[in-house]
Amino acid sequence: MKEISLSSIIQSLLTPGKGILAADESFPTIERRFKEFAIPSTTANRCAYREMLFATPGVNEFISGAILFDETLRQQTSTGIPFPEALARQGIVPGIKVDLGAVAMAGFASEKITQGLDGLRERLAEYRELGARFTKWRAVIKIGDQIPTRTCIEANAEALAQFAALSQEAGLVPIVEPEVLMDGSHPLARCEEVITVTLIQVFESLFAHKVALEGMLLKTGMVLSGKDCPTQGETAEVAEATVRTLLRAVPAAVPGIVFLSGGQSEQAATERLNAISTAGNLPWKLTFSYGRALQDSALKTWGGSAENVNAAQAMLKHRAKCNSLATLGKYSTAAEAGP
Ligand code: 13P
Repeated sequence: MKEISLSSIIQSLLTPGKGILAADESFPTIERRFKEFAIPSTTANRCAYREMLFATPGVNEFISGAILFDETLRQQTSTGIPFPEALARQGIVPGIKVDLGAVAMAGFASEKITQGLDGLRERLAEYRELGARFTKWRAVIKIGDQIPTRTCIEANAEALAQFAALSQEAGLVPIVEPEVLMDGSHPLARCEEVITVTLIQVFESLFAHKVALEGMLLKTGMVLSGKDCPTQGETAEVAEATVRTLLRAVPAAVPGIVFLSGGQSEQAATERLNAISTAGNLPWKLTFSYGRALQDSALKTWGGSAENVNAAQAMLKHRAKCNSLATLGKYSTAAEAGP
């Protein structure tokens, strides 16, 4: 297989006006999402759903990469083309979630540590053979009374750094994702504080593990009030706090920052991305790497029926287009209303 450098993969992923489709839901997560619409989480349904997403006509105008789950990387389209190849043919870079999920951290009952480092070197080699060009590892940090603890932040940062080092060794671009959850009633300022502390620790660990910052992407949430906080920050306030936090904590050598949606509504995720994108003069490229904020309407519309495929694809394409415009600071209510 032809060698492709980390920087050329990154340049493809960061193509202006494009973002990443996170479709890497693990078995429990996709089962939860399907259950909302009474769709049984069978191998065939998961495959049909992902094929519907990836085969959306014209989605490659707005999507540069797709993050897959292990099962999906090994599945094929109904015409027998492996998904990584089907994506690559459309100019969409295939990626893979490589962590094995977050579990309760021993001694810290309300906090989590992400597992999956054992055997990772071997799995990465196989993923590369299967066509993956980038990887993702998600750490979960929860805000609450007395949490996150420094121990939880450090342990997760250490795992992220080991993952990133192994990915780069394998010729795969790591997307380093420390997600600070929206759950809780904390104010926006508390989220800002926790994201700042977390990112500073993550970059310290990345440095300690000799990860080349030029060869990775950061995936983070925006600075938001907890979802049960009575005062939700205005869009402009969210954008300002997010940009300030990133400027304080993310080295300029990082080529790009991609946002997760984290449970925001589709429209809020787009509006806030648009506001962040208008900040201007930032050292990194910014774009989206949304899961739910790209898929929610499409999944609801699809509902598990082949007859709804076209309508569901139109939903996905619309969200991808709105978010594409948002990365350029050109999203508007007219764009939301559709063509
Ligand atoms: P959401 O955009 O739904 O948060 O998913 C993104 C993701 O990849 C979470 O790991």
